[in-house]
Amino acid sequence: MEKAHLSLLEWFAKEGRHDLPWRTTTDPYRIYLSEVMLQQTQVERVVGYYERFLKRFPTLSSLAHADLDEVLALWSGLGYYKRARNLHATARICGLKLPKEYHALRKLPGIGEYTASAICSFAYHQPIAVVDTNISRVLGRLFATHTPKKVAQEFLNTSHPKKHNLALMDLGALVCKPSDPKCDRCPLHAFCQGKEDPASYTKRSSQKRQKKELHLALWIEDGQIALRRSGQRLYQGLLSLPPADPAPNPIASFRHSYTKYDITIYLHRQRPQSPIEWIRLDQLHQAPINAIVRKALTLPKLSISFANLP
Ligand code: ADE
Repeated sequence: MEKAHLSLLEWFAKEGRHDLPWRTTTDPYRIYLSEVMLQQTQVERVVGYYERFLKRFPTLSSLAHADLDEVLALWSGLGYYKRARNLHATARICGLKLPKEYHALRKLPGIGEYTASAICSFAYHQPIAVVDTNISRVLGRLFATHTPKKVAQEFLNTSHPKKHNLALMDLGALVCKPSDPKCDRCPLHAFCQGKEDPASYTKRSSQKRQKKELHLALWIEDGQIALRRSGQRLYQGLLSLPPADPAPNPIASFRHSYTKYDITIYLHRQRPQSPIEWIRLDQLHQAPINAIVRKALTLPKLSISFANLP
């Protein structure tokens, strides 16, 4: 065990992703924010959002005082808006500081097992194993098990819990990848019980996305766009394009993936029925618009220019 720990940390020192902006801070709020943004979202996409968000809300208490609409506007395009709502709710509950204790963190909105353990380990250096999809795959292969969570705590390097967890995460992202793992570059190769058949410890990606079609209205009048505040499950409370009657000649169409759906969106030049919210085009950048509105407004084909949309 100790040899494996050592080899892993040596590799991490040389090859780890040390420059990620949430890795160079010790502020629990920043670490918490990054973990929420990184749920279901790729590292490369998160970086810009993370930095913009922190510029506007540099502390937990500034977020607690924020208007939810402004939080959602900064989240616009990242998807899974429930995360932003929970983040805001948690800030309101905590006020100045996040709790340090795992079980106290778990009681907060949106903080599950993973996020609580990540905060405890990365912000507070507590000896708690973190298990995300990458780590789960690494441990599954290393111990040739289909229940990697059960071995994670036992394999934890309690002298360097934070480095150990981050190292496993990076090993999963950079070397022990889902397909075509680079076993010849792996610091745990000598200890790995699953190296003969790494594929059998790879979770199959979830089923194919269901196809859907959506007909939406794009209507601009006097420098204002007609949007609708959606109360449905999809994009709760965000501003979306209002529904349109399906007609033969849409002005544009594009694809959008959302959770398990692969949606083809058809835009129609139709004046929507009320209830409508008129948003000035020059105010759009601070409105909580959903990803579909953003995509529609930046379609080259429609050549609507919104220089200030992030
Ligand atoms: N560093 C800390 N947490 C991370 C995460 N969830 N994804 C990528 N890098 C991280």
